[in-house]
Amino acid sequence: MASNSMEDLVALCKRRGFIFQSDEIYGGQKGLYSFGPMGVELKNNLKQAWWKAMVWQRDDVEGLDASLLTSPNVLKYSGHEDTFTDPLSDCKDCKSRWREDQLTDGICPNCGSKNLTEARPFNLMFKTSIGPVDDGSSYAYLRPETAQQIFTNFKNVLDSTNRAVPFGIAQMGKSFRNEITPGKFIFRVREFEQMELEFFCKPDTDEEWFKYWVQSRIDWWLEQGIKKENIEVFEAPEDDLSHYSKATTDLLYKFPHGFEELEGIANRQDFDLGSHSKNQSEFNIKAKVMENKDSTTKLAVQDLDTKEWYIPFCIEPSAGVERGVFALLNEAYNEEEVEGKTRVVLSLKPHLSPIKAAVIPLKRNNEDLVNHAKDLKNKLQMLGMGRVILENSGNIGKSYRRHDEVGTPICITVDFETLENQTVTVRDRDTMEQKRLGPEELINYYGQYFE
Ligand code: GAP
Repeated sequence: MASNSMEDLVALCKRRGFIFQSDEIYGGQKGLYSFGPMGVELKNNLKQAWWKAMVWQRDDVEGLDASLLTSPNVLKYSGHEDTFTDPLSDCKDCKSRWREDQLTDGICPNCGSKNLTEARPFNLMFKTSIGPVDDGSSYAYLRPETAQQIFTNFKNVLDSTNRAVPFGIAQMGKSFRNEITPGKFIFRVREFEQMELEFFCKPDTDEEWFKYWVQSRIDWWLEQGIKKENIEVFEAPEDDLSHYSKATTDLLYKFPHGFEELEGIANRQDFDLGSHSKNQSEFNIKAKVMENKDSTTKLAVQDLDTKEWYIPFCIEPSAGVERGVFALLNEAYNEEEVEGKTRVVLSLKPHLSPIKAAVIPLKRNNEDLVNHAKDLKNKLQMLGMGRVILENSGNIGKSYRRHDEVGTPICITVDFETLENQTVTVRDRDTMEQKRLGPEELINYYGQYFE
């Protein structure tokens, strides 16, 4: 089942420590969220799965972790200073501010007044001063996408790794946007993480690579547990493309509020490398770029056959981590009736589960049971699948409920029989089936969840 109610998901996230509103004790900040003990594990697992698929399991991608503060020149030539804007109108009567697309017939949705200002462009980037003097002369932006630092580091990566086109540079990390109307829980926020790949290819191969990446990204989301029927592929119309894009395909997910963008795949052509290059006229740049008087480097490569220098094209799959977490929580959330009671269970794929196994001594604080459980916890932890937890609550039923709700694939109970013959009881989250297993069987059983 997907598309649960937003309320159910938000309540689960707070109750079980996935996601909290930021600065809640001071009334909360709109568009800012904090990931709690379960949320940070889920988020890290999602990012790790992306990194594995996009970097480790490929032979044509390198990683990068660049700075968040970005110099104005980068965002001038990327086009963000000029174009990364929303048109806004102010209501002169009630002083509320609206995006132009939120207004119908020029009426303020808050007070009904028609006394609105002309729409003016409002830049979505956060600006901050750099250095000790705050006189506006030295400033930087918090990056609005991770991509730009990939382009500006293109030559560093190329020269330090001996890569040749086609190859990609992957990066995950924070991006910041001063969204006018953040909302829909963590769907539209002002501080979020992106998982972005800039894949560089020869100009005449871009369409082929574009198709490849669209399919590859759909397949990856399916592997993370998203159902096929909950993903829609949307090709952006030409008049809706970003200034750098020749074609963009969005992967829409069926969020509780409807189908909306989870990831976008764009054909950025030679726009960014071309924009950030010096001596641009030496190259036959296809995209419409601004003349660059500040760059010190040519971001070009040599064709090994023709010996000609050219600016590679770039295909960019770009996914939001928060939207990914939201989609996975929605997809995994299930309510079912068990013996007259409602069981909430989060059927996450085990590699994404915040806790991989919970080891529960039958009696709270019984030294022998707790020591045995601790040893077992450490042994399973050492296998490197992720976090294993000791659940010293003494209440097996309550522990099962808690771990069903956070998506722990197995619970392992250590009881008095364990002390005699080393066997434990394992319980599967989804089927609720219980089995008694010896030590070796347990290791094999546990390993099966992560194959
Ligand atoms: N580098 C290309 C780029 O930034 P985008 O479509 O603006 O393209 C890519 O963003 C992805 O980042 C989106 O598909 C979405 O998942 C995520 N994203 C963008 N703005 C967001 C926001 N305000 N809150 C949460 N996620 C956001």
